[in-house]
Amino acid sequence: MNFCSDNTAGVSPEILDALAKANVDTAMPYGADALTKKVEQRFNDLFECETSVYLVTTGTAANALALGAISPSYGSIYCHKDAHINCDECGAPEFYTSGAKLVTLPGPNGKLHQGEVEAALSATDDAVHHTQPAAISISQASEAGTVYGPGEIHHLSHVAKEYGLYLHMDGARFANALNTLGCSPADMTWKAGVDVLSFGSTKNGTMNAEAVVFFNDKIGKSIGYKRKRAGQLQSKMRFIAAQWDAYLENDLWLKNAAHANTMAQKLVKGLEGIAGCELYYPVEANEIFISMPELILQKLESAGYAFYRWHDAHCPVIRLVTSFNTNEKDVDGFIQTALNAQTE
Ligand SMILES: Cc1ncc(COP(=O)(O)O)c(C=O)c1O
Repeated sequence: MNFCSDNTAGVSPEILDALAKANVDTAMPYGADALTKKVEQRFNDLFECETSVYLVTTGTAANALALGAISPSYGSIYCHKDAHINCDECGAPEFYTSGAKLVTLPGPNGKLHQGEVEAALSATDDAVHHTQPAAISISQASEAGTVYGPGEIHHLSHVAKEYGLYLHMDGARFANALNTLGCSPADMTWKAGVDVLSFGSTKNGTMNAEAVVFFNDKIGKSIGYKRKRAGQLQSKMRFIAAQWDAYLENDLWLKNAAHANTMAQKLVKGLEGIAGCELYYPVEANEIFISMPELILQKLESAGYAFYRWHDAHCPVIRLVTSFNTNEKDVDGFIQTALNAQTE
């Protein structure tokens, strides 16, 4: 009954099994173990290219360390105004870049638009008084639950290249976006011009397995040292690697994301017809932003459904997030409760 966040979901049984299996014998620490090596190779296979992979345990660490690798302290990083790196990381990107500036831009449906980024970049100069453009960061899926198509990513990377910037992707919900697009991981990343990816899995069924994945070998690998300084070099790395290994095995990650997205679509279809309910953004992954009459929200809350109230426009807007283990009965119950409230 909890639609607050995909972080409220537990851990896939396959991941817990993998942790138990990794818990035998001894293994070399700090990533020098066989499972970590195996996972590094898995990433190469998955993305159909040579990657450099740094496993970490939070999405914030992945983003902050990735940005720290592509921006100097005097750099500017262009992102959407609602980006997680701007709103919800307590200044970690600024901290791990040693002070780079986040330049926030508007954009419809939570996404950066090529024209907006181009306009901002064309107004920059190399005066010593100004931070220097270093990177563009996009979230896939976005904080609005929308998804950049490969073409849109390509347009942004075109702008990035024109101005000599790197393109970073915050993929906390990478699998959900991939499920929507139906393209390959390569098509959604380096083939569209992404240089570095924060690859998330925690929201989609692991316990605490995130990764920074570099597609561009020109980026300095100082991140190895920075990860240690950030306290993100796990001594028992094999347990993070074990989660990634099981996550990618037998397409668990894709199945989990497909379920989450299907539940979101079911939920939105059930709610769309209800008087006074209006979608705030298109539903393209596993998040729904919808305005609903206060009376219906109160009935849902007192029936035990949990969700975040996002903000008040003309009518309260709530966020509903589905996950790999969202129960279909809860989705049906939510819709029915809202329908009943409407007719009371
Ligand atoms: C888009 C996005 N990026 C990054 C993160 C960061 O994840 P963590 O909470 O693991 O630091 C989140 C978490 O909510 C997120 O929604």
